[in-house]
Amino acid sequence: MSISAEEFKCIRSFVHEHSGILVGDGKEYLVENRLTVLMVQNGCKDFIELHEKLKTDPGPLRAKVIDAMTTNETLWFRDASFFTALSDHIAPALLEKAKRQPKVRVWSAACSTGQEPYSVAMLLDHGRRRMGAGAPPLEKFEILATDISPSAIYMAQAARYSQLAISRGMRPAFLDRYFEKKGMAYEVRPEIRKLVTFKSFNLKESFTSHGSFDFILCRNVLIYFSDDLKRQIYSKLHGALQREGMLAIGASESPRGYTDAFDQVIMGGAAIFRPKSGGVGAASAIAGRAR
Ligand SMILES: C[S@@+](CC[C@H](N)C(=O)[O-])C[C@H]1O[C@@H](n2cnc3c(N)ncnc32)[C@H](O)[C@@H]1O
Repeated sequence: MSISAEEFKCIRSFVHEHSGILVGDGKEYLVENRLTVLMVQNGCKDFIELHEKLKTDPGPLRAKVIDAMTTNETLWFRDASFFTALSDHIAPALLEKAKRQPKVRVWSAACSTGQEPYSVAMLLDHGRRRMGAGAPPLEKFEILATDISPSAIYMAQAARYSQLAISRGMRPAFLDRYFEKKGMAYEVRPEIRKLVTFKSFNLKESFTSHGSFDFILCRNVLIYFSDDLKRQIYSKLHGALQREGMLAIGASESPRGYTDAFDQVIMGGAAIFRPKSGGVGAASAIAGRAR
């Protein structure tokens, strides 16, 4: 049984409304592949019935549908030039900041199954060790890691990775230092895990409850959104950054055409964005409009 044009229209508009994710023309196969099991498990004979059920659902079914429609592709130290920038420029700057301020706050805003925030935590610790005496303690860092996908958050919190997941970018020296072998899997060590707090969060919502950050990673997620939503999210990201804060986005992404609120700085071959007019405070007027 294949999905009808009417069914595809209903489901893609539901997904867009609740997650911002645009399901492109011709992606009927994606909806079928990802939602057929849920449709059957929920006693629906077709996607129209599933859509009807979603309208009266108090939340759990909606979360499962959105979860199934997310693409959680990620890896350790994804994008070499970005992680060179992190290791050589951003982590040292954050470590210096940690000597001056009580906490340094980092947000991985679409963290998927945890590889991104744990990679950042490991590089911060690595930088700290390189610094030697006088390095700030790890407790000075707080990493908030959020994603709309509850199953991705669950996996990230469990912090256990298969050999296959480890083989996707993990460096041997970091594997030895930051993981414990647990049966067939590798578990991130407690000192790294305790730096990261995971939460389910939809980027369509207001960012105000998270407070402000010294460094935000919002990588490889805006590509799924409409231009209008990208514009709103860039504005909210600007509002959530500290005055000297830094924003990292995916290598194929750019704020150009959506906002001129950031200055681009090239660090170690990667483009990093700094708020032009001072981040928190100065940005609240723009950010307020988008919230
Ligand atoms: C391709 S992964 C990128 C993961 C990681 N940032 C990286 O670059 O490797 C995109 C992530 O964005 C999440 N996502 C999609 N829509 C979202 C939304 N509206 N709010 C929060 N996260 C969302 C997905 O669940 C998925 O885990």
